[in-house]
Amino acid sequence: EQRIALLPAAGSGSRMASAIPKQYLPLAGQPVLRHTVQAFMIHPAIDRIVVVISPEDEWFDEYDWQFAQSKLTVLRCGGASRAESVRNGLQAIAPVMADSSWVLVHDAARPCLAQADLSRLLQTLADDPVGGILAVPVADTLKRAGEGQQVVETVPRDGMWQAQTPQMFRHGVLSKALSGELDAGVTDEASAIERLGYAPRLVAGSARNLKITFPADLALAEWIIAHPA
Ligand code: C5P
Repeated sequence: EQRIALLPAAGSGSRMASAIPKQYLPLAGQPVLRHTVQAFMIHPAIDRIVVVISPEDEWFDEYDWQFAQSKLTVLRCGGASRAESVRNGLQAIAPVMADSSWVLVHDAARPCLAQADLSRLLQTLADDPVGGILAVPVADTLKRAGEGQQVVETVPRDGMWQAQTPQMFRHGVLSKALSGELDAGVTDEASAIERLGYAPRLVAGSARNLKITFPADLALAEWIIAHPA
């Protein structure tokens, strides 16, 4: 079975307050995206890495991707949302993918993915007909806010997980899930799969696999990279 990593990297990173999209910000001397590609490059079970960038991207070609040449494909087919970027990427690789092949969709902005977490995801789901995601149990107490931003209720955190990536699904199921309308409710691949009536599996990951969203996340990611588990 083929295992393809699909990395949506077509975002503009508006929450970072930076002119450079976050996937290209420097992290420990290398652009964030390079760390992310490296995690899949060195894992022996990953056959191919497909990076989806924006047609207007001016940064990708500024870097040397030689180290990943044996596995890397770049597609300039990013869309208006993350889900659209993933769908466009899936459509582009469809001709060479069997329905049962695995696609691991991973945020370009999660550069600290550990090999052990990736291996656990691959091993846990190996015989699964659909797939699943890395996730971590919610640590904080959850409040639902009302109109005036007061607490309406405390949501029991038992059984609540935070979704991460990779989100690993069979190509056929994932393509079908993302072929419909991609409204704002489709915030990850799993939510689209759930709409088809499937129940993606949750595989315990690690809080180290953070997504770079705000400037402070870069400093934290730098620390994580300097202190491997
Ligand atoms: O903005 P957010 O943190 O949700 O982005 C998650 C990932 O999706 C990032 O790697 C970003 O580059 C990517 N993305 C994309 N196309 C978009 C928006 C986001 O590929 N239109």
